[in-house]
Amino acid sequence: MYRRTGNAVASNFMARPDETPNPAPEPALEELLEEARQAALHSYSPYSGFRVGAALRLTNGEIVTGTNVENVSYGLTICAERSALVRAVSQFGPDIRVEAVAVANLNAAPSPPCGACRQVLAEFILPDAPVVFPAVDGDRTMSFHELLPLAFEMKLK
Ligand code: THU
Repeated sequence: MYRRTGNAVASNFMARPDETPNPAPEPALEELLEEARQAALHSYSPYSGFRVGAALRLTNGEIVTGTNVENVSYGLTICAERSALVRAVSQFGPDIRVEAVAVANLNAAPSPPCGACRQVLAEFILPDAPVVFPAVDGDRTMSFHELLPLAFEMKLK
């Protein structure tokens, strides 16, 4: 029988190893988190009921938000983080750089950016950019390079 084991693995990954509480995000990130929460109110998620919002702060000072948009053909769903990124490039062009990311959900559940979103963010994000997301033990901040240490890069010989 198929059993879900993913949650246990993900929870282990997100718990702080030393079990100290997560420090409160710095005020600028707390603001970005609030933008992400607001964006989650627009979520279209009739299939999962999981309402996610993402907010990106760009180096040009703009904040761009996105939410998850699901589809009856489930695999066509777009996550909040990618939705925000596509919107940012559409609004401000291909030279944008992301300097901070906040992810929130309205389900009181952990939701670090999924692997696909990390790889897509890698294209536009500064390696040291803080990424704040809901973990098992509250909002947690990690730098992008900690979240995705080995992003795919195409180096042709
Ligand atoms: N989801 C996101 O929006 N971001 C993620 O990083 C992971 C998952 C959404 C996709 C889907 O609509 C719902 O959460 C459940 O997987």
